[in-house]
Amino acid sequence: MKVVQTVHQMRRLAGRLQESGKRIGMVPTMGALHEGHLSLLRAARKKADAVVVSIFVNPTQFGPTEDFMQYPRDPKGDKEMCRKAGVDILFMPPLSQMYAKDHSTFVTTGRLTEVLCGPFRPGHFRGVTTVVTKLFNIVRPHLAFFGQKDYQQALVIRQMVKDLHLEVKIVTVPTVRDPDGLAVSSRNAYLLAHERQAARVLYQSLLIGREMILGGERDARRIQSQLEAYIKKEPLARIEYVSIRNPQTLQEVQKIEGKTLIALVVWIGKTRLIDNIIVRQS
Ligand code: PAJ
Repeated sequence: MKVVQTVHQMRRLAGRLQESGKRIGMVPTMGALHEGHLSLLRAARKKADAVVVSIFVNPTQFGPTEDFMQYPRDPKGDKEMCRKAGVDILFMPPLSQMYAKDHSTFVTTGRLTEVLCGPFRPGHFRGVTTVVTKLFNIVRPHLAFFGQKDYQQALVIRQMVKDLHLEVKIVTVPTVRDPDGLAVSSRNAYLLAHERQAARVLYQSLLIGREMILGGERDARRIQSQLEAYIKKEPLARIEYVSIRNPQTLQEVQKIEGKTLIALVVWIGKTRLIDNIIVRQS
């Protein structure tokens, strides 16, 4: 495995792979790698000839009061995990490589970023689409892998790729969960033992939503209020949003039809946790 820190070297190595006809699969991450990331690496390994992983804690996607400074970092553990997973190139650029002092160009996607997490994290998706565009331009992957856990992010990136005619196929990989259902996340490291217990409420409430839909409930408002009531019973939980949406457009739905996205963000203490499921009406 090659560990690369400069844009110049990354470009050169990727260029060589392109020339030899290899299909590059890219997995963009912010490190502190866990089982969720590993499942993206495995998917990339399966579908591509060469796997490039990037680890870069991207400052432009964090708000001024968010956890950029505290965000977990574990370069040694990450390298080891990538090596074991059969990654070909690990791209770990320092901040100065990705953002020059006079950096002033941003990529923004409209509509899809104006709902769900958008209003709660102003500028977040602009930071994500900007850094992912840069990474795509440096590596020029054929395939790029994103997790369903960040459903809105994956959808925004698909839209961006389509709108900007980027030559990369976006693959979405199912959410990896702990045995009790909690979606694996780098931010789970912030949870104290009793908070970790309380965090189960996210997936449990999603399952209640699924059961309601499969049981024939068609009124989205009723599902939303049941889920909210359930989460509120957990004293450590504070709801940011619980939302029932069309999985393609992210528009709110009133009546459940076809596929439905149930998405939520719940704070457990000082930790912001996100999760979602898609339910197909049977
Ligand atoms: P990060 O939070 O490190 O996540 C990197 C990728 O791993 C994302 O596509 C995310 O959806 C996926 N992922 C995280 N937890 C997962 C889980 N439990 N199951 C499946 N996939 C999971 O998302 C980012 O970084 C950044 O915004 C990034 C796209 C790298 C841009 O900076």
